[in-house]
Formats: sequence, C-alpha cells, structure tokens
Amino acid sequence: MATRRGRAGRKSTTREPIIQEPEAPEPEATRREAGVTESSRANRGWWDRNADEYQIEHGRFLGDDRFVWGPEGLDEAEAGLLGPPEGLKGRDVLELGAGAAQCSRWLAAQGARPVALDLSHRQLQHALRIGGSFPLVCADAIALPFADGSFDLACSAYGALPFVADPRLVLREVHRVLRPGGRLVFSVTHPIRWAFPDEPGPEGLSVSGSYFDRTPYVEQDEEGRAVYVEHHRTLGDRVRDVVASGFRLVDLVEPEWPAWNTSEWGGWSPLRGNLIPGTAIFVCVRD
Ligand SMILES: C[S@@+](CC[C@H](N)C(=O)[O-])C[C@H]1O[C@@H](n2cnc3c(N)ncnc32)[C@H](O)[C@@H]1O
Repeated sequence: MATRRGRAGRKSTTREPIIQEPEAPEPEATRREAGVTESSRANRGWWDRNADEYQIEHGRFLGDDRFVWGPEGLDEAEAGLLGPPEGLKGRDVLELGAGAAQCSRWLAAQGARPVALDLSHRQLQHALRIGGSFPLVCADAIALPFADGSFDLACSAYGALPFVADPRLVLREVHRVLRPGGRLVFSVTHPIRWAFPDEPGPEGLSVSGSYFDRTPYVEQDEEGRAVYVEHHRTLGDRVRDVVASGFRLVDLVEPEWPAWNTSEWGGWSPLRGNLIPGTAIFVCVRD
C-alpha cells in the first residue's frame, strides 16, 4: 500500500547490507510521459527488486492477515466497504495488486474465496511465504486471465491502479470479470497529494506544483529507461474513469488520520494526515 513518489534518493535505514556490493547509480526522478507498456515493464521490475524491502518495512503495519486500506490504517473489518464481513462467506473475490496478499488472507478468514493477483512474482513469493490456501496469480491487471462473470467482488489497496498508464483498461477488465451486482472497491493516493511535495514533515504542507498536471512521476536509469512509474489522475478523472468503465460510484471515502496511528509511511504522516487527505477509496457497483 502507499507509493513511492518523491522518495527517490532516500536510502532505507531498515537493512544494512552484509556484503558490500557496488552501488547501482540512483535513478533520476522526473516527470515525463510513460505509456502502458513502459509503465508495466518498469513497475514489474521495481516491485520484483523492492518487494523484500517493502515487506520488511511495512509488513508489521499491514499485518499478515488484516485488510488495511491505506497508511491511515482504516481496516475493512470496521469499514465494511465490501459489505458486512458476515456477508463475505462463499463470495468469489478478486484482489488486484495484492502484494503479499494480506487482504486476501483476511477475506479467506471470513469464508470468502479470494484470488490474489499481482504483477510482481517476488511480491507473490512473499504471499507464499506467509501462507494461505487460495490461488495466487501473476498477471498484469490490464489483461485479467479470467472468464467473464467470475467474481462477486473485486478490491485493491493501492494495487495496480496508481501505476497503470490507462486505468480504464483495468476498470473495464474488472467490469468484465465481475457478475452483475458485483462491487469494486479500490484505494489510491488521494489526488490532492500530487500538488504537494511527498514529504512527511512541514515541507510536505506547501503546494509545490499544479494539481492539474497529469504528467507521470518517473524514475529512470542512466539510459533514460523508466524503472518506476506512478500516474496521477485528478479526483474528477477518477470519477469519470469509473463511470466510463460501466460502474456506478456509490461512495468516495477519505479516511481521516486516527489518533492511535503514530506511524509514518513515506510521505504519509500524522502531521499531514490531520490536515489533508492522503487516501481516496472508491466504492463502485457493476449494475
Ligand atoms: C503499493 S503495493 C500494494 C500491495 C498490497 N495491496 C498492500 O497493501 O501492501 C502495489 C502493488 O501493485 C502491484 N502492481 C503494480 N502494477 C500492477 C499491475 N499493472 N497489475 C497488477 N499489479 C500491479 C505491485 O506489484 C505491488 O505489489
């Protein structure tokens, strides 16, 4: 969950290398166009290389079998955005961009039948390591390897949608694989955050760019090849994407920062979370 924009150049302090390896040059962080194929290729590589660090850094906050929607810590057990937990029993649920499949594990514990899909093989190896008896599928969310009408519900906690160049490709695919009456709930970085530096401290509170600038955030190597990409959509863009893909938007949840949460996650912090929204959760129905 949560993303990396603005974090280029920061070194993780969670692990010290045991063997000194030659340092790979830091990627350059920039804003430039990046298409569907380039974005998928870059992000598959990035998540494969960084899955271990992601799970070390955030695994404790996520919990092995909790369903957390974002760095605010909103938990599906209380939020019930997919419907009441007791109604999940026997339901076929697709989790997109599942990472180590923490959410799917919680869904399975409610009696649902989850399928956890992710672009990154390494993320899914972490799902295997933690365990669970549900399918793991390594695929790009823009081309879902499932028959029409295979699922009752679909969900995603910061998976796939912040990273794809054309979110309508994903949304149309989800619409296709959902049964009529099915629900899609997904969380992304709140679009307003793109107007601010992605910093947890006071420097992250002053507008530094245009909210309306949709140019993707790209980290690229010395040859100019993208190694990480995030795509910005305004709130209105996201609503139009949902509606144009055949869904009805029934709620847009902006979780408030709770007093119990003293954790920072990249640019998400109690300081900023108390002043501006950090996560947007779209609750959509396929009629
Ligand atoms: C921020 S992580 C979120 C993982 C998990 N939902 C969580 O809360 O920890 C984003 C995940 O989306 C996956 N992802 C990125 N682009 C994707 C795509 N096009 N299709 C499927 N998964 C994708 C990444 O591999 C990564 O595991």
